[in-house]
Amino acid sequence: IKKIGVLTSGGDSPGMNAAIRSVVRTCAFHNIECVGIYRGYQGMIEGDFKEMGPRSVNNIINKGGTILKSARSSEFRSPEGRKKAYDNLIKQGIEALVVIGGDGTFTGALTFNSEYGFPVMGIPGTIDNDIYGTTHTLGYDTALNTVVDCIDKIRDTASSHNRLFFVEVMGRDAGHIALNAGIAGGAEEILIPEEDLGLDRLLESLQKSKASGKSSSIVVIAEGDKIGKNVFELKDYVDANLPEYDVRVSVLGHMQRGGSPSCFDRVLASRLGVKAVESLLDGVSNFMVGLKNDTVNLTPLSLAIKGKSEIDRELLRVSDIITT
Ligand code: F6P
Repeated sequence: IKKIGVLTSGGDSPGMNAAIRSVVRTCAFHNIECVGIYRGYQGMIEGDFKEMGPRSVNNIINKGGTILKSARSSEFRSPEGRKKAYDNLIKQGIEALVVIGGDGTFTGALTFNSEYGFPVMGIPGTIDNDIYGTTHTLGYDTALNTVVDCIDKIRDTASSHNRLFFVEVMGRDAGHIALNAGIAGGAEEILIPEEDLGLDRLLESLQKSKASGKSSSIVVIAEGDKIGKNVFELKDYVDANLPEYDVRVSVLGHMQRGGSPSCFDRVLASRLGVKAVESLLDGVSNFMVGLKNDTVNLTPLSLAIKGKSEIDRELLRVSDIITT
């Protein structure tokens, strides 16, 4: 392999830039060329390419977002779109791809590989941490720190006014952000899709918490939670059933995706970038680089997509115990 393409696709996450930097510099270290592909698969279809050298990635390790931009390309889901993308890669002399993103990104890479036999390597980049084969995806740690910081601030005002806050956090169908940030932020209850608490138990728990002398409360809700009511309907429900509470809602939204990556995410991105390029150079394809037991490892892309990143049951128990 003499030339590798790198792209970011799907929802951006802090640490993507650090991963791009690592990929570009590992290519330079091994004397091969690197091409940045803008706007994910859409840029591949449109031939939006730029040659990158070690100096193209100066001063980006600390930056959130992705300098290569990101997109969710519907055109790449069609065989015609993928054909255009393939032709562009061949024209450019690109012989392998590093794709940084989540399961949608990996699904696209696998389909592309099955049609054209094109070597691909995935780096997990999403704040949701919902990828099998790695304990951490890029951006997850930074997002957790952002959420905990927000909860701390909400706690100040909640306790000043003796209020109950419902704080909705991201995570798509996974509760990793809610569970971990909820524990770290001292939430009274944490609602996640993996564990249905139920409305009755929520009310019961809030009643108990009031009776035990707590004057303010924070309930963290994962956006994918299955309690059957969205965060605003939950507020109405509690207003109607527990009038002793003064309830407010805070939806943290896209601020969770931004910001300077944490030290952990920068180091992880740097490690995964090196491993991704060196694996391709060793002739490995269709894998994702990830982290397990603090060791960088490889998981087949098909498994990374299909496997479930299980919630930590011990954390559920810890949360139950320390909210009393
Ligand atoms: O996958 C990352 C994520 O931020 C999810 O947590 C969220 O559900 C989704 O992306 C939001 O997507 P969009 O930015 O397209 O609204």
